[in-house]
Amino acid sequence: MKLFVDSGNVNDIASLVPLGIIDGVTTNPSLLAKAGGEPRVVLKEICQTVKGPVSAEVVATDVTGMVREGRELAGIDEHIVVKVPFGKPGVQACGTLANEGIRVNVTLVFSATQALLAAKAGATFVSPFVGRLDDIATSGMELISQIVDIYENYEFGTEVLVASVRGPIHIVQAGRLGADVCTCPPAVIEALFKHPLTDIGLEKFLADWEKAQAAKG
Ligand code: G3P
Repeated sequence: MKLFVDSGNVNDIASLVPLGIIDGVTTNPSLLAKAGGEPRVVLKEICQTVKGPVSAEVVATDVTGMVREGRELAGIDEHIVVKVPFGKPGVQACGTLANEGIRVNVTLVFSATQALLAAKAGATFVSPFVGRLDDIATSGMELISQIVDIYENYEFGTEVLVASVRGPIHIVQAGRLGADVCTCPPAVIEALFKHPLTDIGLEKFLADWEKAQAAKG
């Protein structure tokens, strides 16, 4: 399973990349607004840092605007994947951009039928938001399971990119269901490294070693 960082913060991304476990980045207008700076400059820097797919979202709401903006975003760097929000304009723009060879991530997906339409439009990635579904007492992971089944049944090449991840358990569940990608806030990726038994175990190994060295004199 690929791991993407869900962030617009270059420093946060740059601190994770050397670990060698980051395959890409997803941004959205909220994340880029929070990061500050000129969005195109920030996106270019992120692309050069991660050297993997970097989703950059259009803010136009009509087909013509989405396609124009998508082409501009794709021109920033070869790693850019154009993100379009689900809806009639987004699906149509996805088809046009995909036909031009531009990779598209259809975002704000909350149902299996939306994911089906995104795949039919030639999306490279589909982004179902699991956390926001959990927030309204609906199972985000049930949606992932449905999408994975449908894509497998018809051999769609669209990758299931689990978004709105809130904690490590989402990554475990997504992996068991065969999702292609999980995009995670930096704090969730940090949490993957933590286990109290690892810390306790290492402390004991080192203490035993020290004791043995001291006994040798
Ligand atoms: O990039 C989209 C996404 O992952 C949103 O997450 O936490 O705002 O629901 P969240």
